[in-house]
Amino acid sequence: MSAVNPRPVRVLPEAIANRIAAGEVVERPASVVKELLENAIDAGAEKIVVEVEKAGKAKIRVLDDGGGMDRDDARLAVQRHATSKITDEGDLFNIRTLGFRGEALPSIASVSLFRLTSRAESPVGVRLHIEGGSLVGEEEVAFPRGTEVEVRNLFYNTPARQKFLKSDAAEAAAIAETVERVALACPKLRLRYVHNGREILNLQAAEDLYDRIAAVLGSAVYPKLFPAKGRRGALALDGMIGAPDLTRPNPGQVHLFLNGRPIRDRRLVHALSSAYGTLLDPGRYPTAVLMLTMPGDRVDVNVHPAKSEVRFVDHGEVYSFIHETVREALGRSPWLGGAGTPAGWRAPAADVPERVAEAMLKFEAQHRQQHSFPIAGGYRPMPGAAHAEALPADEPSSPLPTVEAGEPPMIGFFSSLPVLAQLRNTYILVSTPRGLGIIDQHAAHERINFERLKEAHARGGVAKQMLLFPVRLDLAPRQLAVLEDAAPHLSGLGFEVEPFGGDSVQIRAVPQLLAGADAAGTLRDLLDDYAEAGGSRAGEAAVEHVLATVACHASVRANDALNYEQMTALLRRMDGISFSAACPHGRPVFIEITDVELEKRFGRIK
Ligand SMILES: Nc1ncnc2c1ncn2[C@@H]1O[C@H](COP(=O)(O)OP(=O)(O)OP(=O)(O)O)[C@@H](O)[C@H]1O
Ligand SMILES: [Mg+2]
Repeated sequence: MSAVNPRPVRVLPEAIANRIAAGEVVERPASVVKELLENAIDAGAEKIVVEVEKAGKAKIRVLDDGGGMDRDDARLAVQRHATSKITDEGDLFNIRTLGFRGEALPSIASVSLFRLTSRAESPVGVRLHIEGGSLVGEEEVAFPRGTEVEVRNLFYNTPARQKFLKSDAAEAAAIAETVERVALACPKLRLRYVHNGREILNLQAAEDLYDRIAAVLGSAVYPKLFPAKGRRGALALDGMIGAPDLTRPNPGQVHLFLNGRPIRDRRLVHALSSAYGTLLDPGRYPTAVLMLTMPGDRVDVNVHPAKSEVRFVDHGEVYSFIHETVREALGRSPWLGGAGTPAGWRAPAADVPERVAEAMLKFEAQHRQQHSFPIAGGYRPMPGAAHAEALPADEPSSPLPTVEAGEPPMIGFFSSLPVLAQLRNTYILVSTPRGLGIIDQHAAHERINFERLKEAHARGGVAKQMLLFPVRLDLAPRQLAVLEDAAPHLSGLGFEVEPFGGDSVQIRAVPQLLAGADAAGTLRDLLDDYAEAGGSRAGEAAVEHVLATVACHASVRANDALNYEQMTALLRRMDGISFSAACPHGRPVFIEITDVELEKRFGRIK
């Protein structure tokens, strides 16, 4: 290729350079909120108000009572590379503030209609008006000590970027998450967050980190958290880790902080998850708030435009410190039978096995069909077990829903398999014609519920059950932020949810399949999913995803003891669905170890 019209090298005009930098610093409305909050915290604010309209696309306003700026400083602050936080290169290697680049304000101002009002020592405050990076007005105003930044019409002059913004629900969720993280990082900070005129968060100064965690993650999650604290040399960790069943399919509820700065670090997330070992289902991540502190010169925070990634001088040391500290905390936690019961910690309900048994019976009763047929030959009761005879007389062998009336009754594959035992309260062992079969009870039940829900949904309605006693629950800010958007989807599924003042809502009806199961937990999961996907999943995929979540909550879990009747009932139900041999989350339901494999392993054959 030949060079066409070679052009001379030129230094870009400041406004364009700013706009290019903005591409890195200001990715979406949540980045603006993050930068403005960081500035307020660096300025020593004790109280911050964040007001947002239309998920930040229309307006973002952050008001603080920090040290403020007088006229000259304010003018400088909106210029590129103007910062009060570092003065020489040496400072870069020991950063104690959240900001250090002097890029945030000019970047934001270059892609919005921007207004900065501030006052420090002078008797009057100063107000600057900037449009697309150009100063268009300046005035003196009466203003209390502190700073207010108002950002309107974000990206109005960069349409490409505007086009890449996600739905209001997704952007609002990202903002709520940003505010949550700042709230966790600064327990003493008073923080109010209002979206579209609705107060999402209003936090008073907390006593300590634990208090703040309770306020931010909510009273439903808090009892399932356990403190994790440790120190090794100059490294210190403080925070809380969640019960092994308080998980997400992504690391969205792993809140990592380094020296007060929220960070992302996949390897440190791994240090945490791997400490749980087999307590976690594959592909799930725990809930945790981990505050890591270390000397500033052991870490480089200047590696990412959003300042959210860091580089440790000794990553291995940090990894093993987190891993060990979490392991040690888990060992003391009530989930592993430890004696530790910190203030505020409530043991999980002791009646879990009973509730599971009840749920299974209810589940059976709900799907009991009118006609029954005898158990076919080939069925042998468990050796030495009288259970088979003890089956309740009115317990019919459930027919296969796929069998049309008039067809000769037949016994299905799974129900013909003699149950040998339950292993680790998690797997059902069965004898198969070819060897040993192992069924993952949760995955199997989940698959059954999922197929039933899908069928019901396709027929035009998931049966809804009104609750005699509505369930009231507190929602986290990111969940509240998407509630309105998600409402139509939820009601299509049989949920009736209504606001109950503050951050509380009340569930009045649930999908019938969920009756007796954890309605609040399901709703929280659904809202989290919605926030993460931003309602972006379309059509069938969205519906299936939601059905899978409901199915998961309506199912028996690993570690639930099942009796013989419950196991055989589960096998019968397995015959009733089309099996792709995987749970809706893609894990296998059933595996088989053949006689040949066994014989090989025992050296009977080669
Ligand atoms: N809310 C505020 N209160 C007081 N001073 C502020 C406030 N916001 C910004 N400033 C001043 O303006 C300067 C520029 O802010 P800006 O966010 O652009 O850069 P920074 O915070 O220094 O670095 P970074 O780009 O990493 O955020 C800051 O260094 C600070 O002195
Ligand atoms: Mg800043």
